[in-house]
Amino acid sequence: MEEIKIFAPASVANVSCGFDVLGFCLDPVGDEMIIRKTASKGVKISKIEGQDLPYDVNKNVAGVAALALLNAHPCDHGFEIEIYKKIKAGSGIGSSAASAAGAVFGINALLGQPYTPHELIAFAMEGESAASGSPHADNVAPVLLGGITLVRSIHPLEVIQLSSPSELNAVILHPKIELKTIHAREILKKEVSMEKAIQQWGNLGAFIAALYTEDFELMSRSLNDVIVEPMRSLLIPEFDSLKKSAIEAGALGFGISGSGPSVFALTKGDQIAKSVANALKKTISPSGLNYDIHRSPINHQGIKVLSNQ
Ligand code: HSE
Repeated sequence: MEEIKIFAPASVANVSCGFDVLGFCLDPVGDEMIIRKTASKGVKISKIEGQDLPYDVNKNVAGVAALALLNAHPCDHGFEIEIYKKIKAGSGIGSSAASAAGAVFGINALLGQPYTPHELIAFAMEGESAASGSPHADNVAPVLLGGITLVRSIHPLEVIQLSSPSELNAVILHPKIELKTIHAREILKKEVSMEKAIQQWGNLGAFIAALYTEDFELMSRSLNDVIVEPMRSLLIPEFDSLKKSAIEAGALGFGISGSGPSVFALTKGDQIAKSVANALKKTISPSGLNYDIHRSPINHQGIKVLSNQ
């Protein structure tokens, strides 16, 4: 194989109760990338469309992740990467993760799969780390593995792919303001009270149990974030009224997607997802803010190969 074209999906990290550990990926929203072998060694980013991002491989998350893989697995030729961005940088739905995961997925395929998808997470995480200032795998893991994932540990890296009910759907609203992950991480308090920690790990454990037992009521009770959301929601316009309208329209839960400004709701079934999307539109419209809205089932496959040659 000389060239591969892929779809690298957007993703929702944290999922309310799992800051830095839970994530899932979406279906219709994502970037396309073409990765091609070149005679000259190294990595080159030859095209970026849709966003103003650096071509310097040491500054672009796709380049950083690609170089991390090639440092571990040197080879006698190189790669060029074309990136067609549909996910806006700073939107909170894993723009950098899609680029980082897409780059390592494509290079691994062209090298004949020396690494498993689990092993690729470590390389993609280096790209994420360059973008956000600290390593976290909660976006790159679902993009590379598909479905909903839990990062048990990053040192050593251990990621678990979780089961999830097929009826689970997501609604994403992206208010068009930019919030950089690095900034949204800086504002977080470094200490958590014992009382809040107990609530959060109770919710996280129960949410995972509910995924396996398909207990949507338990899932709904567990989709709470008592630690990060109170701090970050202040940065998101209309957050409280959006949350109220999503829950009233039948959402199982509502929270910040990754570090925001996108927000997400989970629903049982596509019909409720439609009602939630309409309710969110009605709530945000009077503010005059520009926004995008997406509905998606959980993408169980992650990155998809569109073509290869
Ligand atoms: N878990 C990370 C954060 C995700 O919330 O900072 C960033 O996309």
